[in-house]
Amino acid sequence: MKPRVFSGMQPSGNLHIGNYLGALKNWVRIQPDYEAVFCIVDLHAVTLYQDPAELRAKILELAALYLAAGIDPHQSAIMVQSSVAAHAELAWMLTCVTPVGWLERMTQYKTKAAVQETVGDGLLQYPVLMAADILLYQAAIVPVGDDQAQHLELTRDIAQRFNSLYGETFVMPATSLPTVGARIMGLDDPSKKMSKSEAGAGHAISLLDPPATIRKKIMRATTDSAPAVDFALLGPGVENLLNIYQAFSGWDAEQMRAHFAGLRYGDLKKQVAEMVVASLEPLQQRYREIAAEPGYVDGILRQGAERVAPIANSTVELVKRRMGLYAPC
Ligand code: TRP
Repeated sequence: MKPRVFSGMQPSGNLHIGNYLGALKNWVRIQPDYEAVFCIVDLHAVTLYQDPAELRAKILELAALYLAAGIDPHQSAIMVQSSVAAHAELAWMLTCVTPVGWLERMTQYKTKAAVQETVGDGLLQYPVLMAADILLYQAAIVPVGDDQAQHLELTRDIAQRFNSLYGETFVMPATSLPTVGARIMGLDDPSKKMSKSEAGAGHAISLLDPPATIRKKIMRATTDSAPAVDFALLGPGVENLLNIYQAFSGWDAEQMRAHFAGLRYGDLKKQVAEMVVASLEPLQQRYREIAAEPGYVDGILRQGAERVAPIANSTVELVKRRMGLYAPC
């Protein structure tokens, strides 16, 4: 049997090229070798208020983007977290073995809580729900970005604690796969990772941006005061543009140097823009086809949930028996 992989993204904000190059593209690459579950984590999204109509639309959009990027629903399960009740059930059981102190220490929690007037309990529980996602499927590997490494570490701690209290139950998930592909930074501020929740118009290139928008954003990207590409002295903005080009083209460092050394920033930007436009074109075309077929995405999501629910439910049954909760045979 192939080892199981689980990963997910929140259906909030707009998916951008950083999400594609850092995550989605890897998922597509590894899917033939694993039994993969790719989740749309809507229960995580509502840890911060989401407009209901918008959330509904974003769930379908994210599923269509998974498909358009090349996740093959015949190989991998694409499913929505809230459609398999076992996610929320297991989260509760894990909550009961998780010290509050562990959760209060999470960096992401501290960052998000700091800007809330009232901190919802869901924000604190966020990593427990994430642990439930992973442990439900006994996932061996969890491909996530380094910003999620702390949550993955916590997942292992929770699993270990449960195992020591109630007996061997959970498989320890391995650290994320080494992500090939660059860490893409914001176009407006190359010191910050490109983010889905960043509001600035010039910050990220969304996967569904029209070509004119992509060109405009790249032409306005922050560089530095030098006139042309100098590999001995790369500023972070120029380096980011080169990384974007390299990730989409698949060129090696030698090819990059030979092609871009000495090129003026204006010309560099033009070439990066054309590379991004051309690379996203097929994905956008598939997205339009998928979106034009009513009910198609819903069907995929229903099949995905049906496929994974038995695995998730049997984990919940096992956990119930281990904990002494009522689980008739
Ligand atoms: N917290 C993850 C993120 O923001 C999303 C997520 C939720 C996830 N559950 C997961 C990722 C389980 C991997 C496995 O990126």
